[in-house]
Amino acid sequence: MNCTSKILLIFVLLAVSTTAENKTSIQLPSPETTGKVSVEETLAKRRSIRNYQSTSLSMKDLGQLLWSAQGITAKWGGRTAPSAGTTYPLELYVVAGNVESLEAGLYRYVPVSHKLNMVSKGDIRDKLSIACLGQQSVRKAPVTIIIAADFSRTKKRYGERGIIYVYIEVGHVGENIYLQSESLGLGTVAIGAFNEKLLKELLKINEEPLYVMPVGKK
Ligand SMILES: Cc1cc2nc3c(=O)[nH]c(=O)nc-3n(C[C@H](O)[C@H](O)[C@H](O)COP(=O)(O)O)c2cc1C
Repeated sequence: MNCTSKILLIFVLLAVSTTAENKTSIQLPSPETTGKVSVEETLAKRRSIRNYQSTSLSMKDLGQLLWSAQGITAKWGGRTAPSAGTTYPLELYVVAGNVESLEAGLYRYVPVSHKLNMVSKGDIRDKLSIACLGQQSVRKAPVTIIIAADFSRTKKRYGERGIIYVYIEVGHVGENIYLQSESLGLGTVAIGAFNEKLLKELLKINEEPLYVMPVGKK
């Protein structure tokens, strides 16, 4: 291969990798760390909401919700929700069906860069609803956040007790999503009734799904 061919090849490889990065990794808008609604007000008004308007969710709101759940808030990596021994066993998946300027698909949230990585394309809300025993909130919501756990991260440190810690932790994250939704004028519901096997197959994940939280405008 001569020198010109080599340079050409490098350009082609660079172009391909840039396109792949653009396709699969989406930067979310920076989260707000102050708001107009007090914590007391969100606590007083929080309710499980299962019906949503058909309007789309903005990227700003989606980013804010994900940040409230697992966003990085300290230089050493501390997050919005506490974690036993800072083992951070939880992963967030996003089923997007109707989010402004976001292609319908399945995404994974990357806390450290506040980005979404695309897992697969296409609207899977109907299938997600089936995995959630036909619950309509999931079918109708513009977006659903799935909180899944890699128990081994916490068990490595705490043994069998780590299992309890992971279940406690998902409660913290779920409540953060409830309160953040309320402050944004959105509604959500924590769904625990789903077919675990079907859901894992649909999302093609190794982690254990613990909570499914559809979110939409009230
Ligand atoms: C562990 C857990 C599992 C739940 N699973 C579901 C569910 O599968 N579907 C649903 O619509 N609501 C579910 N909920 C929401 C409860 O039904 C709701 O919190 C309860 O009715 C009280 O209403 P509130 O949240 O508005 O105060 C669940 C709540 C918890 C804590």
